[in-house]
Amino acid sequence: MTDWATRIHNIVPLAIEGTVIRTLGMTVAASDFPAPINSVAEIVRPAGPPILAEVVGFRDRLTLLYPYGETNGLRRGDRVRLRRSTWQLAVGEGLLGRVIDPLLIPLDGRPLVGLNERVLLTAPPPPPCERPPICEALPTGVRAIDGLLTCGKGQRLGIFSGSGVGKSVLLGMMARFTAASRVVLALIGERGREVREFLERDLGPQGLARSVVVVATSDRPAILRVRALMVATRIAEYFRDQGHDVLLLVDSLTRFAMAQREVGLAAGELPSSRGYPPSVFALLPRLVERAGRAAAGSITAFYSVLVEGDDPHEPIADCVRGLLDGHIWLSRKLASAGHYPAIDILESLSRLMPAVTTPDHYQAALTVRQLLAAYREHEDLITIGAYRRGADKLVDCALELLDVIEGYLRQPLETPATFSEAKEHLVGLHLRVASRLGQASTKTEDQKLGGGGPTGLERETLSQFTRVPHPVTSAGDISKTNR
Ligand SMILES: Nc1ncnc2c1ncn2[C@@H]1O[C@H](COP(=O)(O)OP(=O)(O)OP(=O)(O)O)[C@@H](O)[C@H]1O
Ligand SMILES: [Mg+2]
Repeated sequence: MTDWATRIHNIVPLAIEGTVIRTLGMTVAASDFPAPINSVAEIVRPAGPPILAEVVGFRDRLTLLYPYGETNGLRRGDRVRLRRSTWQLAVGEGLLGRVIDPLLIPLDGRPLVGLNERVLLTAPPPPPCERPPICEALPTGVRAIDGLLTCGKGQRLGIFSGSGVGKSVLLGMMARFTAASRVVLALIGERGREVREFLERDLGPQGLARSVVVVATSDRPAILRVRALMVATRIAEYFRDQGHDVLLLVDSLTRFAMAQREVGLAAGELPSSRGYPPSVFALLPRLVERAGRAAAGSITAFYSVLVEGDDPHEPIADCVRGLLDGHIWLSRKLASAGHYPAIDILESLSRLMPAVTTPDHYQAALTVRQLLAAYREHEDLITIGAYRRGADKLVDCALELLDVIEGYLRQPLETPATFSEAKEHLVGLHLRVASRLGQASTKTEDQKLGGGGPTGLERETLSQFTRVPHPVTSAGDISKTNR
């Protein structure tokens, strides 16, 4: 059905009125009010303006409404009137550079103009068989990501960490530095102070100019915090349908899940995993699937996930990791050492990297991963001074290049990195490693003349750097080589 046909199909007579009977937790229950789920009603108070509220469920013969604001002065017997049977969103270029709430109320003190189109809030994800494959990289301007966790246009990734490790700052860097033509940010459940900080410190005027920021702070009703992500996703879809490569940044998906938990429990759902009702786990894939590539443009999405107590098996983190095409894990240990962005490369994975990088880039990334893995395996011995150089060629090489690799992975907040620079440095590093191990092998060849020969370990090490197949160009298996 076309958008218009859908709208006409969804029309419900607006002359539906009911009566407030009682409150149930955060919801208001109305009788004789057969309004559809997700429709918006107004509750008329004797004093003060009407309260807008959304239909979130039904219990017995009552309709449950979740108010969008304070319920001061609400009384039993107040009238409830249907205002909108569907959520429609005004969209247009006028959204660029603006900070709005989920009801499209501007939070930056200027009137919102230039919204010439209306769209339904919910849209189906692109059909699976019509999605073009993801084959082109989206530069984010963050060197560690572009080089070692390259992300494709239309890919969905999670940024996972405990609190205060740098998720928001990293999202801000991407918003400022990305090559995407549009950025849509959803700030959900943040403290009010953090929003201002984010806009001024992390995003800045340069980032804001091509962005739309949808904000629902922690003090807003849970239903609006849920709507914030839906509105941001719909705005991103609008820009994608205009042919833009859109970067959707969500901070945080966990706080969205917590808000949906509040709404679900208030509507009468039973809690399942750690108090989260089933609707949370049903809603997450429906939203995440809407990002991706379409015929005209793409939505590349990064969702920050707060991992309580740094526990990676926390239910939301667990569920989200399975839904996304990659995860970036931020390490508290790196952050405490002042290593920013605190990306733990070995714990992170971009599943589509082989499809969006050239073979030399991919190979170079594998080389650096192998060095980091070798170093980590021997880190305890190295720290206490028990590692003896010469025991393992790969570890020796890692020790020698550790400063260079760290320098590559660290990036000052205000300095963008270009994609070509990220790739060239990495390929240069790979060549240094290959030549260093090659020299090691030449020495052993020399020794061979004197009766020795390259050891099995040396042969194995060399072949690692010369013959790892590129999964796309040589039909290898990323799941084996990249994890
Ligand atoms: N790239 C960086 N460079 C320098 N300092 C940083 C960087 N990233 C984070 N920090 C420091 O870490 C602090 C916390 O960062 P941030 O607010 O991004 O964490 P968070 O993971 O979003 O926290 P929360 O879970 O509370 O939302 C910042 O205030 C800053 O001091
Ligand atoms: Mg944050």
